Amino acid sequence: MSQRKILVTSALPYANGPLHMGHLVEYIQTDIWVRFQKQFGNTCTYVCADDAHGTAISLHAEKQGITPEESVALINKERVRDFGEFMVEFDNYHSTHSPENQTLSEAIYLKLKEKGHIASRSITQAYDPEKEMFLADRYIKGECPKCGTDDQYGDNCEKCGATYSPADLKNARSTISGATPIEKDSEHFFFKLSDFGDFLQEWTRSGTISDEIANKLAEWLDAGLQDWDISRDAPYFGFEIPGEPGKFFYVWLDAPIGYMAAFENLCQKRDDLNFDEYWKKDSDCEVHHFIGKDIVNFHCLFWPAMLKGADYRTPTAVNVHGYLTVNGEKMSKSRGTFITARTWLDHLDPEYLRYYYAAKLSNRIDDLDLNTDDLVQRVNSDLVGKVVNIASRNAGFIKKRFGGKLSSNNMVEELTADFQQAGDRIAALYENREFSKAMREIMALADKANAWIDEVKPWVVAKEEGKDQELHDICSAGINLFRLLMIYLKPVLPGMAAKAEAFLKIEPLSWADSQTVLLDHEVAKFKPLMTRVESDKVAAMIEASKEVLAQMAEQKPAEAASLASNEWLEKEPVAEEIKFDDFAKVDLRIAKIVNAEHVEGAGKLLRLTLDIGEAETRNIFAGIKSAYAPEALIGKHTVMVANLAPRKMKFGVSEGMVLAAGPGGSDLWILEPHEGAQPGMRVM
Ligand code: MSP
Ligand code: ZN
Repeated sequence: MSQRKILVTSALPYANGPLHMGHLVEYIQTDIWVRFQKQFGNTCTYVCADDAHGTAISLHAEKQGITPEESVALINKERVRDFGEFMVEFDNYHSTHSPENQTLSEAIYLKLKEKGHIASRSITQAYDPEKEMFLADRYIKGECPKCGTDDQYGDNCEKCGATYSPADLKNARSTISGATPIEKDSEHFFFKLSDFGDFLQEWTRSGTISDEIANKLAEWLDAGLQDWDISRDAPYFGFEIPGEPGKFFYVWLDAPIGYMAAFENLCQKRDDLNFDEYWKKDSDCEVHHFIGKDIVNFHCLFWPAMLKGADYRTPTAVNVHGYLTVNGEKMSKSRGTFITARTWLDHLDPEYLRYYYAAKLSNRIDDLDLNTDDLVQRVNSDLVGKVVNIASRNAGFIKKRFGGKLSSNNMVEELTADFQQAGDRIAALYENREFSKAMREIMALADKANAWIDEVKPWVVAKEEGKDQELHDICSAGINLFRLLMIYLKPVLPGMAAKAEAFLKIEPLSWADSQTVLLDHEVAKFKPLMTRVESDKVAAMIEASKEVLAQMAEQKPAEAASLASNEWLEKEPVAEEIKFDDFAKVDLRIAKIVNAEHVEGAGKLLRLTLDIGEAETRNIFAGIKSAYAPEALIGKHTVMVANLAPRKMKFGVSEGMVLAAGPGGSDLWILEPHEGAQPGMRVM
């Protein structure tokens, strides 16, 4: 098999706040994949960087009374330390505010311009006359033009859901200075994305992204691509556009170029890596991006189009993961579920989290729940109870009775072969980012090993006379089976694998090492490889999370939020106290699902036909596609809100809503009433 050359990236985290559990889903996922590739024998290079530019970052710095450069440097220091302790091992961690990135951004822009892909025109925007800067929608607040609620952002109302343009807000004010925004014209530069419509139609269906994502993007592609505004007016923390004084590249223009810049910076330090070999048009090398579902449009539309237009290669794959919930809900500061990397590290072993995420990650974009009780249970039962246990049950005898030396005989040839054959399957699962399935395979092997040990009972054999050889063979076999498991777990648990290598007195384990066993080999004294997760430490971490983080402003550029499609990113519901009368207004009814079907082009919706009694049926769109196949719903009884005002959606009118519970993704359940509750009955 020829060796692949793979460049891997994770999204570049904004330099305006600490790393948290949500970020770590991505960096741990990527790191596992990279470690697997390296262990497997491929040439794999993992780069990342701080995303340093944009208004959110300069405002964050301003609040602390320092320059953006200083603020970015401070955050970088913490971040690099946090990543290191979580064993996320970059080959290079750079910054978008770097000379390499400036050079590449200018070159790519000029190339696009030369080829006619840049347009310019004047646009009218809200302007803060006091602060003397243009205001993105999220920096404008006012009263909702529809329901009058105050304190609403520039583009939509959290109370009534209305969407509007900032100019429609009543009593609008700048959230930066408090001044009343005025309207002002300015010349902007645009990347003509529509020049790449055909290319993108093909690229998105060429195996680079999952069908799930491609379907989502098809909605935008079919609707026709808009020009993309890539410029911002001074003052702006970023790179000035060549030949256009006072105009700067919008942060999302230079951010993905930061992937190339981080690699270029590494190439300057390493003789074995060549920038052009990886990025030239017909490169044989692979480029894999790992990102969250909120930034798909930037990576699967703008970015490949920019690369194509500037005559570079396009990505081999863009791997998209879902969002993290903690104990079933969006991360929340008040509930202590906004857990930073640092708070975790202060209380718990980072490998607990690495294993837990691995045990839950798939290659789909389902959201992922960090359930702390489940974590305690899984880590203790799988890692401590199953894996470490195999070594600790056998190591003592080897040291005490056999001078620390393993037997020269393998008494479990068949079981060993079984473990060895699993190697290909597990490798394929890692390759396809099916980590949860890989963990299941590995734990099934661990179960087999433990079952065998329970059967041969070394602790009984140890007490029997004349059975030294048998005891020696059993314990040596146990240690060897443990070694094979560690090979397969190493991408997830590099720290534990290093301890196991020290115990076994061996070179770093490669994937191919699974085809051998250790015979007649001396091992060291066994030291505990991992301790049990203690529930009180988890509780202490949650408590600590409530205290930290007073002033965390986690903001996304407006485009990211609005283009990320509301269908994917629900807001955290705000529950205020209501009077009984308010509740009585809700007409809840038992409904029978008489039909359920997929909705073409909708990523998350199913169309349901509900029988609500008295010969009345309702058409409803429910966002439960990730949890139910339509067939599974037909014939079920459920609960619906019958007097919800009909809502016109892209796919038709939805006449009410069904009730469901759960964190989302596949963990979502419609409410099912007991037998006896018939269509049309009121719920009270
Ligand atoms: N700076 C941009 C990315 C630029 S890439 C050229 C950005 N930064 S971020 O800090 O907001 O997010 C970094 C990555 O972490 C993104 O891929 C994002 O999807 C991921 N996550 C941030 N919060 C997350 C969760 N709560 N859950 C899962 N992933 C999350 O976007
Ligand atoms: Zn409103």
